[in-house]
Amino acid sequence: MNEKRSSFSGNIGFILAAAGSAVGLGNLWRFPYLAAQYGGGIFLFVYLVLLFTFGFSLLILEIAIGRKTKVSSINAYGKLNKKFGWMGILSLLIPVLILPYYSVIGGWVIKYMTVFLTGQGKAAADSNYFGGFIGQTASPLFMFFLFVTLTTVVVGFGVEKGVERVSKFMMPVLILLTIGIAIFVATIPGAGEGIKYYLLPDFSKFSFKTLCAAMGQLFYSLSIAMGIMVAYGSYVKDDIDMNKSVTNIEIFDTLVAVLSGMMIVPAVYIFSGEEGLATGGAGLMFKTLPKVFDAMPMGNFIGGAFFVLVFLAALTSSISLMEAVVSMFMDKFKLTRIKAVLVIYVIVLALGVPSALGYGIWSHITVLGMDFLTFFDYISNSVMMPILAIGTCLLAGWFMNLKDIEDEITKNGEEFKRCGIFRVMIKYIAPVFLVIILVFYTLAQFGFISY
Ligand code: PHE
Repeated sequence: MNEKRSSFSGNIGFILAAAGSAVGLGNLWRFPYLAAQYGGGIFLFVYLVLLFTFGFSLLILEIAIGRKTKVSSINAYGKLNKKFGWMGILSLLIPVLILPYYSVIGGWVIKYMTVFLTGQGKAAADSNYFGGFIGQTASPLFMFFLFVTLTTVVVGFGVEKGVERVSKFMMPVLILLTIGIAIFVATIPGAGEGIKYYLLPDFSKFSFKTLCAAMGQLFYSLSIAMGIMVAYGSYVKDDIDMNKSVTNIEIFDTLVAVLSGMMIVPAVYIFSGEEGLATGGAGLMFKTLPKVFDAMPMGNFIGGAFFVLVFLAALTSSISLMEAVVSMFMDKFKLTRIKAVLVIYVIVLALGVPSALGYGIWSHITVLGMDFLTFFDYISNSVMMPILAIGTCLLAGWFMNLKDIEDEITKNGEEFKRCGIFRVMIKYIAPVFLVIILVFYTLAQFGFISY
């Protein structure tokens, strides 16, 4: 294309855009329920260790690949080494699979937002409310449709900048509100046990599953292993300090996730005990928080404000997902922007319907023993993203000169503090570790081994 690639305005512009993509339902919805399910403190501990080793290395690697090649991921891998062109297709497929079910959950958020804003928060605090809602047909479908349409309109009209401006202001408010709610939860009698469960690692609870779950969550939350950060890297100007930006994105994203767990996990403990932690699953946030808001003064208002912010965080992430797919469709199939957007709109709507109905009229259908939403989440996070991550490490570490990537990172004479970790991670530890995880997890999933 002859068009000049648009670029971010400076360090802050880039950090905000990347954080807008990274901070979303992954932090607010997915992290707490996984932490609850996989042993609390031990999950948090494993997650943080992975973050500072794997997460950092992969994030900076993807951004560097993007800035070096200046193309979106569909062409970037192949441009570095022809043998790795297939990864471009994979990086196209992953967001195509994630976006539909992401939007189903985005729809749940819209539902809860309207419930609270219309003063019906009390009803939502009922234990059966969430199940009743997702078990319906028209309502979850309609909310899903609304979320996808909103995302599409923003991407279609190219008004992401406007949304980003809103989210710049929303992010700090989201963090403050989350802190406030977490503090409130901590004051409810019985919270102590829950806080302990969440913060103190109990190493006897460590399992292979904890490790796999934490790894998948890391990719998901940082928006890595799906080409999105490669695309963002391609918009980054050459004078950006990548090292600093990546550290900031990491801290920001993790802060929101950890705070969100602090708000939800102890609350689950209070309202549904140990059992609730294990069985909460994907609905945890929606089942637990309304009870917290119900116990709060001005609960409807605070709940409403909270879900508005979750909605915006989800929207900025879904926009980045769709934008990635749109730009790849345009590059690959030579479509105009509007055509690409429309094609993707239809695909997302079609693929999302099973996830939207999977807890209601289609709940009897399962894939590999999972409902549709869980299946799409599994296949993208636990299978395809690890494969892409392995490929990226092999490509950078063995099929090109890793020094070229390091030079890209330190182009302006920046100090690359974690260069040692980076090198060892990308060349050896990450690929070996990821292959082990992928193989064992898959074998276990199909019942060949148990752990
Ligand atoms: N990282 C986002 C979140 O935490 C989700 C996301 C995944 C966004 C992949 C873009 C790409 O919610």
